[in-house]
Amino acid sequence: MKEVEPLFLGRTFDDFLFRPQHSPVLTRRHVDLTMPLLPGLDLSLPVVGANMDTVMGQEMAKTLSLEGGLGFLHRNCPIEEQADWVRYVKSRHSYVIEHPIVLPRAATIGLARQTIRKQHASGILLEEAAGSGVLAGILSHRDMPMDRAADDRPVSDFMTPRPRLVTRPPTVTTEEAERVMYEHRVEKLPLVDEQFRIRGLITMRDLKLYKQKPHSVKDARGRLRVGGTIGAVGDYLERAQALLAREVDCILLDVAHADSLVVERALSELRRRFPGVPFVVGNVGTGAAARWLAEQGASAIKVGVGPGRGCRTRLETAAGVPQLQAIREAYLGTGGRVPIIADGGVQNDKDVFLAIACGASTVMLGSMLSGTDEAPGMVVEDPATRQKMKLYRGMTSPEAVADSAEEDELADALSTPAEGQSVRVPYMGSVVGVLRRVRGHLQSAVSYAGEPDLAHAHRKIAADPVRYLIPLSDAARRESFVR
Ligand code: XMP
Repeated sequence: MKEVEPLFLGRTFDDFLFRPQHSPVLTRRHVDLTMPLLPGLDLSLPVVGANMDTVMGQEMAKTLSLEGGLGFLHRNCPIEEQADWVRYVKSRHSYVIEHPIVLPRAATIGLARQTIRKQHASGILLEEAAGSGVLAGILSHRDMPMDRAADDRPVSDFMTPRPRLVTRPPTVTTEEAERVMYEHRVEKLPLVDEQFRIRGLITMRDLKLYKQKPHSVKDARGRLRVGGTIGAVGDYLERAQALLAREVDCILLDVAHADSLVVERALSELRRRFPGVPFVVGNVGTGAAARWLAEQGASAIKVGVGPGRGCRTRLETAAGVPQLQAIREAYLGTGGRVPIIADGGVQNDKDVFLAIACGASTVMLGSMLSGTDEAPGMVVEDPATRQKMKLYRGMTSPEAVADSAEEDELADALSTPAEGQSVRVPYMGSVVGVLRRVRGHLQSAVSYAGEPDLAHAHRKIAADPVRYLIPLSDAARRESFVR
């Protein structure tokens, strides 16, 4: 098997242009960009968010998934916090509320009022006896008495009782739910089993939101998908367990140098304890390492040693592989059978296309997403230029290391020389704008590639990139990129 074509040796994104092809595309807006993150989990926008604490929190993960990508929640936090983020993402914009707020019918109106206010709910389901789960009725905003004198009376005096409710079984489809709610002019549809036990709730508001996001990436139960990150030592097994308990969709085993004995041991233990769970593993930079990870059972392989904006690995250790070469090696090393996530070094939208054309299935973005509202951290104004900025930091930068270490291990953690650094990135508003721009440019790139969709472009070009790529001279690079 060839390691890599000579064309890719020492090469990365800015070393090539793509030779335009005759296009079958009539409208670029409809070009499909679906690619697999891992077998059985497709993204409609092949972008994943980096598991970094200045990029990925629950808001970024939620928004990425709504726009067709996916976020890997970082692990620079206590296990419970990360697990709570999973729960948060999986409970947003789902059209079914799986665990609606329930009070017993004997509860007072005062308690119901308080519960509604605290939980920002527009109404609550009521059960017969406390803990029975058997639906007794609904108390919505409309049913709530204005008069505070009613606060001591039971909710059952005001609720819409079960015989007057429209309900459906939990297997109801979005189409049927919408039809039923429209026909009966109701805003809420409780889901119940044959014994009338509460199994969920659909609200018209959630249903509308669900339909507004046609690209969103959802699981079989209509919940947003999200990934979680673990390491290869320390608390990694407990962390994996906690993430899986919250029904995370996939786990990323992430270390700087995954071509290692530590990862071999960790992955084998994880696969033994959690059979059937898809594990994404990274990072590696060579074909041999990618092939080895595939043999160890990785469901997808994250590729990139040192290209990231916050990285100093190449500067400090001389280790690394130019990113396009690394992607190409990983693709050839695995025979294109395991999805590759190209991680790091993407500075322009064209790089996303080049990564996928040369063998990756998806790309991981860090700095490109970090200047947005959804990324953790504050917007600051540069006093000299008045430009609004956000902080982006490598996960082995001294700042990130200091934030993750317990107080008693701080000195020890900081004594390891850093291989990451912090930079300021321009503030860009919502990440939705960035993702829509990437989507549009990818759709155009597919059209220039002469294919109807991204999956076809990937297959065609990755099979024979030498035919389609044009290596650039310094003059050609200046002509192309210097503006
Ligand atoms: P971009 O270029 O998208 O890269 O900002 C994001 C990727 O950078 C990696 N990363 C690091 N690499 N030291 C490193 O050598 C670090 O401290 C560090 N922090 C992040 C990571 O792979 C991420 O996805």
